[in-house]
Amino acid sequence: MKIIFATHNQNKVTELSQLIPKKYNILSLNDIGCVKEIEETGSTLEENAKIKADYVRYKYGLDCFSDDSGLEVDALKGAPGVFSARYAGNQKNNDANIKKIWKKLRGQSNPKATFRSIFHVHFNNKTFSFQGKVDGNLIFEKRGLNGFGYDPIFIPNGYNQTFAELGDVVKNKISHRALATVQFLKLLERG
Ligand code: IMP
Repeated sequence: MKIIFATHNQNKVTELSQLIPKKYNILSLNDIGCVKEIEETGSTLEENAKIKADYVRYKYGLDCFSDDSGLEVDALKGAPGVFSARYAGNQKNNDANIKKIWKKLRGQSNPKATFRSIFHVHFNNKTFSFQGKVDGNLIFEKRGLNGFGYDPIFIPNGYNQTFAELGDVVKNKISHRALATVQFLKLLERG
């Protein structure tokens, strides 16, 4: 069964492909020739997830799903949240984003943060929404080489290594996206 993942983010596609059985053929926007950057004009993860999935559903008429995800930092009242990818500007630079978090957190003693992922799904003419989240703490150095985005500075609760140190196998069991994917997979299996 073909299902479109409404993203150009290859890191997300790789993570999802490790979690979803091969009988489901996950295609990215690039795979269906959609090179357009879908404008994420919403002010919440939920709104942006819907915008991305709706674009594919109504332009291509295909079953699809999207993930909108972000890092919500307690001491920053939930920022960068929906603006995680572009926190330090439109160039979507991970290093600059991390440096901006550190700068904003200077003088703060609460390192708590949460990764949250919202899936918006069009499947068999119905829509669904799933949320996954993982709580943890931020650190003030970058550790580890795996993953992407804020992974080198996020230590999930119950561990003492960052997502970037823990690597795919652990991240794919406990991450926000993994937890949303489990719910999505149940839907696919129910048919
Ligand atoms: P989106 O593509 O608009 O959903 O942007 C998601 C952004 O949130 C990414 O570009 C990262 O900055 C951040 N993010 C989301 N999920 C993760 C993750 O699993 N690890 C690290 N950063 C993440």
